[in-house]
Amino acid sequence: MIKFTTYNEQETREFGEKFAKLLIPGNVVAFVGDLATGKTTLIKGICKGLGINRDVDSPTYTLINEYSGTPAIYHMDCYREHNIGGWLEIGINDYLYGDGISLVEWADQIEELLPKDTIKINLEHEMSDINCRFINISASDNFLEKVREITN
Ligand SMILES: Nc1ncnc2c1ncn2[C@@H]1O[C@H](COP(=O)(O)OP(=O)(O)O)[C@@H](O)[C@H]1O
Ligand SMILES: [Mg+2]
Repeated sequence: MIKFTTYNEQETREFGEKFAKLLIPGNVVAFVGDLATGKTTLIKGICKGLGINRDVDSPTYTLINEYSGTPAIYHMDCYREHNIGGWLEIGINDYLYGDGISLVEWADQIEELLPKDTIKINLEHEMSDINCRFINISASDNFLEKVREITN
C-alpha cells in the first residue's frame, strides 16, 4: 500500500491527473471512503488527465456515467444501489470486464463483483485538519512502483 497525503482539493485533483497516466484500457479503480473524503474530486482529476473535457459529477442517481473517449471511461456510484442483482441487470460486468476504464465510487458495495486485479483507493479524512486527506492505494507491486515514481 502507498499512502499519499493532500492538503487541499486542488492537490487531490492534481494527483488524479498524474495518476491517470498510469491507467490502461481494462483497468478498474475502486474508490472507498466516507462522504466528502474526495472520491469524486479525485475522479475529476483522473478524467482531466485522461483528456475528458466535459463536467464530471457523481452518478448518484444515474448509477453509471459514460465519458466517451479512447478508451471509454465508466464512472459508477454504488452508494444508492446496494443490490448486486440490480447491478448485474444493468450489465455492470460488461463495463468491469470491458476495454474501457472503470472508476467506481463506494466500490465496497459491490466488492464481490470487482475483478481480481482491481486497483483500490481508500480515502480518509485527517481529523485535525479539515482540508487534509489520506489517499491509500493498494494494487500489484508493479503498479505501486509506478505510483511511487509519480509521488516522488
Ligand atoms: N484535500 C482534499 N481533497 C479533496 N477534497 C477536499 C480536500 N480538502 C477539502 N476537500 C473538499 O471535500 C469535498 C470532497 O467532496 P467529494 O469529492 O464530492 O467527496 P466524495 O465523492 O468522497 O463524497 C469537497 O467539498 C472538497 O472541496
Ligand atoms: Mg462522490
